[in-house]
Amino acid sequence: MIKKATQEDFEQIKSIMDNCVHPSWSVTVLKTAIEDKNNCFFVSTYNSDIDGYICLETCIDEASLSSIAVLPEKRNKGIASALIETAFIECKKRGINRCLLEVEETNLPALKLYEKKGFRQISIRANYYGESGAVIMERMI
Ligand SMILES: CC(C)(COP(=O)(O)OP(=O)(O)OC[C@H]1O[C@@H](n2cnc3c(N)ncnc32)[C@H](O)[C@@H]1OP(=O)(O)O)[C@@H](O)C(=O)NCCC(=O)NCCS
Repeated sequence: MIKKATQEDFEQIKSIMDNCVHPSWSVTVLKTAIEDKNNCFFVSTYNSDIDGYICLETCIDEASLSSIAVLPEKRNKGIASALIETAFIECKKRGINRCLLEVEETNLPALKLYEKKGFRQISIRANYYGESGAVIMERMI
């Protein structure tokens, strides 16, 4: 099941983020992101345990996919795809028509996920993550 994130979900989201995303967000940044009405923040749950989340920041008619992660043992089951689809339905309701993201060029699972969900590469920022670059991707909603 996918639902909007609330502060009650904070501990589980933080734990997934700390395990899966580098660098993770601070307590304050994550709490603010869950609270911020301009964000589309969703979690995926199974038996009330959270196994994945997505956060999109939105501004007027544009969104930026700022973080997505799924627990390692729950990957390759379509959870991230479902989170992206749910977030895009919410974006569309809000009149948002474009989504941008950046992903480390070595992160093949994420690159493949985004390509499969219709994102296309629009530029590369060399050495954005130290030795490796960032791929900037776009998808119209
Ligand atoms: C990237 C991530 C969110 C994908 O989550 P997921 O729930 O496993 O993704 P899905 O099951 O929805 O996969 C959808 C598609 O992505 C691609 N994909 C996912 N994992 C992949 C892998 N390990 N290798 C290659 N392609 C992969 C496939 O095309 C897959 O479609 P398919 O199953 O029909 O082949 C997950 O690997 C993760 O949490 N990674 C760590 C955090 C991270 O890197 N976040 C992105 C930062 S920009």
